[in-house]
Amino acid sequence: YVLGLDLGTSGLKGILVNKNGKIVDEASSEYPLLTPERGHSEQDPAEWFRAAKEVMAAIFKSTPDAKDQLEGISFSGQMHTLVLLDEKSEVLRPAILWNDVRTTEQCVTITDKVANLIDITKNKALEGFTLPKLLWVKENEPDVWSKVNMFLLPKDYLGYRLTGNKQMEYSDAAGTLFLDVEKRSWSEEIGQALDISTSICPPLVNSNDEIGKLDTDLAKELGLTVDVPVYSGGADNPCAAVGAGIVRPDQGMASIGTSGVFLSYEETGDKAYNGHLHYFNHVVPNAYYTMGVTLAAGSSLNWFKKTFAPEESFEDLLKGVKDVKPGSDGLLFAPYISGERTPHTDSNIRGTFLGMDIAHTRDHFARAVLEGITFSLKDSYELMKKHSNKDFKQIVSVGGGAKNPDWLQMQADIFNAPVVTLETEQGPAMGAAMIAAVGTGWFSDFEACSKEFVHYKSEVKPNSDTVAQYEKVYANYKEVYPTIKDLS
Ligand code: XUL
Repeated sequence: YVLGLDLGTSGLKGILVNKNGKIVDEASSEYPLLTPERGHSEQDPAEWFRAAKEVMAAIFKSTPDAKDQLEGISFSGQMHTLVLLDEKSEVLRPAILWNDVRTTEQCVTITDKVANLIDITKNKALEGFTLPKLLWVKENEPDVWSKVNMFLLPKDYLGYRLTGNKQMEYSDAAGTLFLDVEKRSWSEEIGQALDISTSICPPLVNSNDEIGKLDTDLAKELGLTVDVPVYSGGADNPCAAVGAGIVRPDQGMASIGTSGVFLSYEETGDKAYNGHLHYFNHVVPNAYYTMGVTLAAGSSLNWFKKTFAPEESFEDLLKGVKDVKPGSDGLLFAPYISGERTPHTDSNIRGTFLGMDIAHTRDHFARAVLEGITFSLKDSYELMKKHSNKDFKQIVSVGGGAKNPDWLQMQADIFNAPVVTLETEQGPAMGAAMIAAVGTGWFSDFEACSKEFVHYKSEVKPNSDTVAQYEKVYANYKEVYPTIKDLS
């Protein structure tokens, strides 16, 4: 077996996987999100370790043969979240999470002071990333700052608690905004511009590198009879991509959770996306990925249901969608209800319904919401086309968007590409298990592992008439943002 541990924002999930990629067991444990002030979002790293122990204990209890047949452990983790350690490796303050937005000022400073920021990091300075958080602590908590010996990301902190060794792998390091993404080394230039020494940056490794063996006391406590190697792991988005089989350039991934992600595998780190999309190192060694983010994807649909159909199930709410024509008879929805990241990077913009007609019914509104969310993901795909001629042979749909057949057809028609869904969807935890499976030598590389572990259901093909209709509607959708931006 291998064990994949996904350290998420609300809890930690573990899956035990056998050599055929079958999930044999799973367990999860939650932890709280702390919001001591508006816009602040924090967590106690001790909770992640507690949750990981609980999850492992539960799995070894219900699948006892794992105690002598576990061949590897690896991780997937929430990205960008800052963990600060002192010289004794004690945590200095609560972790500052990826969704904490206190660092707007620091993003401006970084953009002003680091002239080559996009060339080096391939990304714009955003509040979520780690570097602005480091700068915030430096500027606002000098006592804490003076004691900082090293910073880590959540899954690397967990790796440290499990093995005693501190390191960071490239996919998470890329999300700090402190890494030279192409050179794959910490950026002295950024450190100097901001007066933050790179000596606080951990050593860099690959996702499938062994970082140590599971601590002997912990292994004993859990009843393990074998030495278990622990592999570094990866950031949650590229882990989700690997778990969905995105290990080649001709496939894209459309993930619709609370937020939406459109993601693509990249063979090189030298494309000129100029910060229009996130561009990070992949968990596949020496590879990269690009990603666009729709802030309110599933949450637009949740908002719509909560506001207009609180008593109904999603199934009931969406059952009339198929009776409305593509384009919702002129009704357009822009899903900017929490602002938008890609392509507009505008936290002030707000959503809209446009083109309401006396003949429109609630089904029109429901269809328009699904279409608007999908158009927003298409905006990211269009940026990939524009900047690097992407033309996907297949798009893997995961999350809420994969559950509804009408929405799947809509994705095929709007993206103008065949869409598939996974036979069993396990999210980033599966990517973590696959890292362990490659690390432990079951497979020579991620492509070989993917062939054995990832299986798709049948393809949903685009309908050429609908594709043509949606091209016209999408042209109108693109006009919505410039039209409403000064009103928000
Ligand atoms: C990615 C991002 C989130 C976190 C969630 O840039 O901020 O998707 O990775 O854990």
